[in-house]
Amino acid sequence: MLIAVLPGDGIGPEVVAEAVRVLEALGLGLRFEEAPVGGAAYKTKGHPLPPETLALARRADAILFGAVGDPDCDALERSLRPEQAILGLRKELGLFANLRPAKAFAELVDESALKPEIARSIDLMIVRELTGDVYFGTPRGRRTTDAGLREGYDTMRYDEGEVARIARTGFETAQRRRKRLCSIDKMNVLETSQLWRDVVIEVSADYPDVELTHMLVDNAAMQLVRNPGAFDTIVTGNLFGDILSDQASMCVGSIGLLPSAALDANGKGLYEPIHGSAPDIAGQGKANPLATILSAAMMLRYSLGNAEAADRIEAAVARTLAEGARTADLGGSLSTREIGDRVLACL
Ligand code: NAD
Ligand code: IPM
Ligand code: MN
Repeated sequence: MLIAVLPGDGIGPEVVAEAVRVLEALGLGLRFEEAPVGGAAYKTKGHPLPPETLALARRADAILFGAVGDPDCDALERSLRPEQAILGLRKELGLFANLRPAKAFAELVDESALKPEIARSIDLMIVRELTGDVYFGTPRGRRTTDAGLREGYDTMRYDEGEVARIARTGFETAQRRRKRLCSIDKMNVLETSQLWRDVVIEVSADYPDVELTHMLVDNAAMQLVRNPGAFDTIVTGNLFGDILSDQASMCVGSIGLLPSAALDANGKGLYEPIHGSAPDIAGQGKANPLATILSAAMMLRYSLGNAEAADRIEAAVARTLAEGARTADLGGSLSTREIGDRVLACL
C-alpha cells in the first residue's frame, strides 16, 4: 500500500512526522512517498498544489495530510493561496464525505471547555459534505456596485444529487452507530437549506431503522454546548460542518485531538486533523500530534481495511492520555515528539 504524505505548512510537518512514526511502528509494510503542498509548495514550485503532488495523491492508496496555511501567503491572489491545495485535493479526488468524530476521553473531561459531567457524554460523528456549498458555488467574486461601493459575493448552492449522496453517507454512518441522525441546516432562511431538508427526508425512506431529526444550525451550535451527549450522527453542509467541528473539538478538550477522513465514493481517502497550520505555535515543537495520529488510525480503518491496527492506535492514544501525557493545549508541557514517543511506547 502506498501512502501519500503531504505535510504542508506550519505545524503540519511536525504532527505528520509523529503519525508516520506510529504507522511505521505497526510493521505493516506501508510505503510512504512525500510531496510538498500549500505554502511550502508555492514557495518551492510556484503552486500550492503542484501537478506532481496531485498525481501522487491520485496514485496513492490513501493520503495523510497535515495542514496548509501561511500568513506570508494571505495577500496572494486566491488561486495561489495555500488553502487552495486542500480545496483542490478534495474537489479533484471527489472526496465529498468528511467524517469528523468527536468522542470524550474519560481522562480529559476536566480539560473540556464544558462542565465535566456534560463533557463526559460526548460521542458524536459529524458527517460534513465537502465538495459543494458556498465553498465552491459560482458566481463568486468582488466587484464595484453602481453606487461605487466595493462588494464581495459568494453562492451557496447544492443540487439534489449532492445532498442525497451525503445524506446516504449520514444514514449509513448512523446505522453503524446508535441509529440516530440529526440533519443540520438553516431552512428557515436559506433556499439551499430547504432543498437540503426536503432531500434528506426523501432519502430517509430507504433507512427506516434510523431515527431522523432536523435542527437549525444556530440551535445546533447552542445544543452542542448545552448537551452534546444528545447527538449521535450529524449530517450537514460544508460550511456548517466546518464551524461545528471546531466547536465540538473544544467540547472534547482541544482542537489538537480531532481527526478526520475525507472519502470518495470508492473508499479512497484523505486523512487529516481538523485543525490548521497554527502559525502561532509552528516551529516550537508544541503542537498536539494526537489528531493526526488518530487520523492515521482512521486511514487504517476506512481505506486500508485494517480495523485491528486502527484499534491499536486508538487504544495507545487513550492510554497515553490516561497516563497523563499532555501537550500545552491540554495544560501539559510535553513536546510533539515526546507525545509521539509515549504513543509508540503504549503501542
Ligand atoms: P488553526 O486550527 O490553525 O489554529 C487555531 C488555534 O488552535 C491556534 O491558537 C493554534 O495554535 C491552536 N491549534 C491548532 N492545532 C493545534 C494543535 N495540533 N496543537 C495545539 N494547538 C493547536 O486555525 P487558524 O489559526 O484559524 O488558521 C491558521 C491557518 O491554518 C490559516 O491559514 C487557515 O486557513 C489554515 N487552516 C488549514 C486547515 C487545513 O489545512 N485543513 C484547517 C484549518 C485552518
Ligand atoms: C478545514 C479547514 C478548511 C475548510 C480550509 C483551510 C479550507 O478549515 O479543513 O476544516 O474550511 O474546510
Ligand atoms: Mn476548519
